[in-house]
Amino acid sequence: MTELKPARILAIETSCDETACAVLENGRSLLASSVASQMEVHARFGGVYPEVASRQHILAIIPVIEQALAESHLTLKDVDALAVTRGPGLAGSLVVGMNVAKGLALGTGLPLVGVNHLEGHIYSSWVYNQGESMPAAPQFPLMALLVSGGHTELDLMTDHLTYRRLGATLDDAAGEAFDKVARLLQLGYPGGPAIQKAASEGDPNRFRFPRAWMEATHNFSFSGLKTAVLYQVRELEQKGRGLPVADLAASFQAAIVEVLFTKTIQAARQFGAKEILVAGGVSANQALRTTFKNQNEFPVHIPALSLCTDNAAMIAAAGYYRFALGHTSGLDMDVLPTWPLS
Ligand code: KG4
Ligand code: ZN
Repeated sequence: MTELKPARILAIETSCDETACAVLENGRSLLASSVASQMEVHARFGGVYPEVASRQHILAIIPVIEQALAESHLTLKDVDALAVTRGPGLAGSLVVGMNVAKGLALGTGLPLVGVNHLEGHIYSSWVYNQGESMPAAPQFPLMALLVSGGHTELDLMTDHLTYRRLGATLDDAAGEAFDKVARLLQLGYPGGPAIQKAASEGDPNRFRFPRAWMEATHNFSFSGLKTAVLYQVRELEQKGRGLPVADLAASFQAAIVEVLFTKTIQAARQFGAKEILVAGGVSANQALRTTFKNQNEFPVHIPALSLCTDNAAMIAAAGYYRFALGHTSGLDMDVLPTWPLS
């Protein structure tokens, strides 16, 4: 690939319940990353409350940008382009980041780049902290497993910004399944980390929950698994016994991890991928990370924990490749609440 021009990107991310800003150099070296999480606010409602999320973004966005600039010891004059998440996400949340980014672009004259949030998750594996040694960049063709709260899909990436969507969930996303089962087990919000914690003390073989293999496709389905956990909980409750929450969580987690891992490896073999990449909030899951790291058929890229859930460093990384490859956007760009990667 030809050398790309060097550039510093300031990125803004407000697609869901994190208000984030980051400054990144040359698509990889992270100078600063600031994230204001609304998790505590939404925990009261058991999930993200869209209207509350947009109001929180409005309150947090300017301080978060100021913090990222202060942390990087830079001003807007030292930045070459602005990137902002365009979608998918909550429209009322996206619009806050988008309008601030447009205002900054208008005020400074800097070019503006709209970034797909899912593309951002994928690019989190290019990012490393400034001052640390630079890890090898993922190599194409790359099999990307994208597992977040809203999406679960397998994408074949043959070059920068070039994706072929092979399959996706037909019902719940993996993160959504974690969140719903956590609610069922009264483990609170967000569900993924709560299930992981409970599962660490449980027996993953106690309950044999179903695995939907969706044979001969690269699709997924998790709603049957969620229902199986519900029926198991009801049966145990009818017997009047206390719920073995740790064993239920561990058995549920084992079923999800086995399906995600097996289908990704199969797809990587079928499409001749050189490497595998796992991204999105669920890639923070320890059982999933360990399962991928314990095989040695394919090199695997999984982001550092701080980059798995929503952040702006990943938007800056994807924004850099868009900017360097000539994909800038006009000030008339709008948010796209549903924006498939391919
Ligand atoms: O990527 P993300 O921060 O937001 C979206 O783009 O959706 O993903 C959030 C999802 C939530 O469903 C959350 O429960 C899940 O990622 N998650 C986890 C873990 N940490 C976050 N799922 C399983 N294990 C975890 N440790
Ligand atoms: Zn996300």
